[in-house]
Amino acid sequence: MRILFTGILSAAVVGSAVIAATVVWPIGQVPKEITLTGDVQRGAYLARAGGCIACHTNFDSGGAPLAGGAPLKTDFGTFYPPNLTTDPTHGIGDWSIENFAQAIRQGISPEGDPYYPTFTYPFYSNFTDQDIADLWAAFQTVPAVAKPAPDHDTSFPFNQRWGLKFWRAAFLKEPRTDPIAENGEAWNRGRLLVEGAAHCAACHTGRNFAGARNTDTEHFQGNDRLPGGGKSPAIDAETLKMRGWDIGNLTYALRTGITPSGDAFGGTMGEVVLQGTKFLSEGDRKAMAIYLLDDHQGG
Ligand code: HEC
Ligand code: HEC
Repeated sequence: MRILFTGILSAAVVGSAVIAATVVWPIGQVPKEITLTGDVQRGAYLARAGGCIACHTNFDSGGAPLAGGAPLKTDFGTFYPPNLTTDPTHGIGDWSIENFAQAIRQGISPEGDPYYPTFTYPFYSNFTDQDIADLWAAFQTVPAVAKPAPDHDTSFPFNQRWGLKFWRAAFLKEPRTDPIAENGEAWNRGRLLVEGAAHCAACHTGRNFAGARNTDTEHFQGNDRLPGGGKSPAIDAETLKMRGWDIGNLTYALRTGITPSGDAFGGTMGEVVLQGTKFLSEGDRKAMAIYLLDDHQGG
């Protein structure tokens, strides 16, 4: 009995020591200084492609651009994309570009806390310094809105941010955006958008118990349990071709939201087009279609 008790006690002590150490353990790398000059137009374009505007604006309630998004309901609670306007108190007006870079590429706040992966930062880790400078320049032009976004509504243990340090160690992976020269310029541009900024896998890849994507086994195989109860189909090349998609009609659908059968995309895919791909260049939409319909996508 006594041995058992001591065992439990020491397990508890070791356990809480591990937890205590994790709470204060610093994560990520110190971001290096970024001195490049940003291009507002390019930054605004990337903010469309990356869904920053889509998620951080509450279109349904007529919210100001980037002043905070509509609630995102997940298995782990309800998340409110924060105010990203230039307001120094409720937005990111008092941030440095290095704070911004660290948040977007590494998912770490200026205080050193990890962000929830409901924020799609895992797709942005390969953004270049120039991408960050462009985004930053564009964000500087956003009028300040002096209103905070609501706090996230998560219950224990998901309200413990330090727990995300374990999540990061176990599941955080770089997106597969590395260029493959022999596949050509359009394919590589499509890959960069589809696997990176446009984060198509956020909805089209199945997730495990911890809400992490099963990138190795279910990449683009669809997801039957999207937040809010939706479903997304598989978008691997074979399935897309079998379902009648070609480069022409997929490029068109990413502009208009109209599918080859004449229906409109339903659910969240409608919003992806309306708030995102609709604003991209025809060349970029076509590049995404070329990549998606190639049998070597994803690898
Ligand atoms: C799928 C929705 C979604 C998309 C897309 C998205 N975000 Fe967010 N973002 C969030 C959520 C949710 C949070 C809050 C995360 C947290 O509190 O841990 C967040 C947090 C942030 C923060 C931290 C703000 C703060 O006050 O600490 C920044 C900066 C940010 N996002 C920038 C961006 C940029 C730039 C893009 C586009 C490249 C983007 N986000 C795309 C949902 C999203
Ligand atoms: C926010 C979640 C979400 C994101 C992000 C998303 N999709 Fe979808 N997608 C869906 C849903 C849901 C459907 C099903 C739409 C329907 O039922 O009409 C869908 C359907 C599709 C289809 C139709 C497939 C078929 O055969 O019916 C294609 C193609 C597609 N998405 C491509 C993309 C691409 C490319 C991206 C990245 C730019 C993307 N999706 C990002 C949720 C998403």
